[in-house]
Amino acid sequence: MFDIHKIRSDFPILGTKIYGKPLVYADNAASTQKPQRVIDSITDLYSNHYANIHRGVHYLSQKSTALYESARETVKIFINASKVEEIVFVRGTTEGVNLVARSYLEPLLKPDDEILISEMEHHSNIIPWQLTAERTGAKLKIIPFLENGELDLSTLPDLLSPKVKLVAVTHMSNSLGTINDVGLIIERAHALGIPVLVDGAQSIAHMPIDVQELDCDFFVFSGHKIYGPTGIGALYAKEKHLLTMLPYQGGGDMILSVSFEKTEYNDIPYKFEAGTPNIEGTIGMATALNYVSDLGIESIDEYEQDLLAYATKQFSDIEGLKIIGTAPKKGSIISFILDGIHPHDVGTIMDMEGVAVRTGHHCTQPVMDHYNIPATTRVSLSFYNTVGEIDKITKAITKVKELMG
Ligand code: ALA
Repeated sequence: MFDIHKIRSDFPILGTKIYGKPLVYADNAASTQKPQRVIDSITDLYSNHYANIHRGVHYLSQKSTALYESARETVKIFINASKVEEIVFVRGTTEGVNLVARSYLEPLLKPDDEILISEMEHHSNIIPWQLTAERTGAKLKIIPFLENGELDLSTLPDLLSPKVKLVAVTHMSNSLGTINDVGLIIERAHALGIPVLVDGAQSIAHMPIDVQELDCDFFVFSGHKIYGPTGIGALYAKEKHLLTMLPYQGGGDMILSVSFEKTEYNDIPYKFEAGTPNIEGTIGMATALNYVSDLGIESIDEYEQDLLAYATKQFSDIEGLKIIGTAPKKGSIISFILDGIHPHDVGTIMDMEGVAVRTGHHCTQPVMDHYNIPATTRVSLSFYNTVGEIDKITKAITKVKELMG
């Protein structure tokens, strides 16, 4: 479908050898590798255009500011927001969720109000709400999932009530791979006037995102999961929410005027971007989004679905291997356990074969509790992985069994 050889050559690190063996990088749900174009964009900024933004009349400051603001436009286009004012740069998904919890939800909550999340959330979409609940006396309610890792949406009519002040749900589970029907959840929540936050940390790199079509109130993602730098991400929020929200942090650039008696806050989105931001991160992230757009997110999705189907078939044929998360709609993530072998041993032996996977609870301990397991081994695939690499992963798993079985 696309030129995999050319694509792989865009990512210098993919040519690395690990213990003398070619790297098979299958830990893309934790973080993705960076194409040369992204690396070059950061070098170019530092070499040719760098200065602080929004603060200088001088040439370089204006140049940096223009690049920073054009990165905001790139994000807006990538997720189809209606206005650049709705894009707030944050440190990543985690900060985006914390910002919404602190600045949007917390001031609205009264004791016994409810926040509805799901059983398959990443810790970053649990703990900020827990903290908010502790501070306000509100309660967390949980949408459970079924044995195959699909959300049990039949529980929604019972769970959604006027007490619920926000629903926060992952678009794609980082440990199960499940793609949730967030459109349906949003529709049901909106019918009761309840806003919805979508955690797009995983989905952003694997499927087209259109926040207007989804009609979500908030959408958060991280740059590093979509081939961009770490320490940068974006919060999309509907303008009507941002206009009423309190600032998240105080500092430079988020104000119009300051005196000891009274401070007037800046317009959105600057009101939420206190201090010198991660300028190079925004530019690197925008370059990554453009790279992904050039490949075509639909083509990426199609290619990765083929990889997922092939890997699922290969792994299912391994005796003693059980896939955790078999929902009908999944992104390219396969979590599994091997009979009698601890995932950490699996990951360590696979590493010796050059295969990078993640083992552990994947910051989703409630998911592990659901299956009564401490951890899984997780293979998470990108468009730069190949069928040949899946064969190598399969062979590495077989080797684990030979050594430990
Ligand atoms: N959320 C990242 C993962 O799933 C770190 O690995």
